[in-house]
Amino acid sequence: MAYLEIAGLKKSFPRAGAAPLEVLSGLNTKVEEGALLSILGPSGCGKSTLLNIINGLDNATNGSVTLAGIEVTTQTRSDVKISVVFQQPRLLPWQTVRQNVALPLQEMHLHAAEIRERTEKYLKLVGLDEFADYFPLQLSGGMQQRVSLARGLAIEPDLLLADEPFSALDEFSARRLRQEFVRIWAETGKTILFVTHNIREAVFLSTKVLMITTRPARVHLELDVDVPHMRNPDDDELFALEKRITGEFLEMEGGSVA
Ligand SMILES: Nc1ncnc2c1ncn2[C@@H]1O[C@H](COP(=O)(O)OP(=O)(O)OP(=O)(O)O)[C@@H](O)[C@H]1O
Ligand SMILES: [Mg+2]
Repeated sequence: MAYLEIAGLKKSFPRAGAAPLEVLSGLNTKVEEGALLSILGPSGCGKSTLLNIINGLDNATNGSVTLAGIEVTTQTRSDVKISVVFQQPRLLPWQTVRQNVALPLQEMHLHAAEIRERTEKYLKLVGLDEFADYFPLQLSGGMQQRVSLARGLAIEPDLLLADEPFSALDEFSARRLRQEFVRIWAETGKTILFVTHNIREAVFLSTKVLMITTRPARVHLELDVDVPHMRNPDDDELFALEKRITGEFLEMEGGSVA
């Protein structure tokens, strides 16, 4: 059985005075342990909803999500450790960078020495060890996002859910962080689900791209990216894949989009 299996997953949200809003209309996929899967789809198609269900924060209307052999619901969890990195850094402004990264570790009741060690290690990994005593608002947006990445990684999750973590950044910072992100994935060997609406980003990062349609979402395309890491962002094969996926997207949208 696959590490993560999504089978016939449907999700609708009730609406007052109207039929329920159908968001996910029967998603199926399997993800192997250690994969870096990009979930690619347009705004509003249900990507964050999907991550919430995988994270046990919301229930499916139909179908199932199975993680390490256990069906995930809001009531039942596997013992897979999950962390989420969001589109916005969501740091506590009155706590230093170090304290922000340490907070979830304190909630895990780790020993003080372990918390100190992990905080230093992951701040170093994202290149921010020199800024540990800064407050978030003293950092640039990209640096704040790196703190949020360090906080997500310091938990040492088995599964990292990254919800458009670079989409609020300028292209220069995003490029650098993507490289760093892949390096961290390669070093830690963890399973990552990476949500994005950026086709180039999906192709550059992942071992597999799952392209979903506009709402109600279903899987439109599942594509392995068999280019070894570390990749060159200007690799011709990646360009060809990007072009192919863009073509599929235009077809999915039912015609030409300028
Ligand atoms: N808790 C909720 N209650 C009602 N409707 C919801 C809820 N959460 C999401 N939705 C609806 O589900 C649809 C999908 O939302 P979702 O946030 O999953 O999209 P997304 O693909 O993550 O979009 P984006 O790329 O803009 O972040 C939207 O129409 C949204 O209004
Ligand atoms: Mg979203």
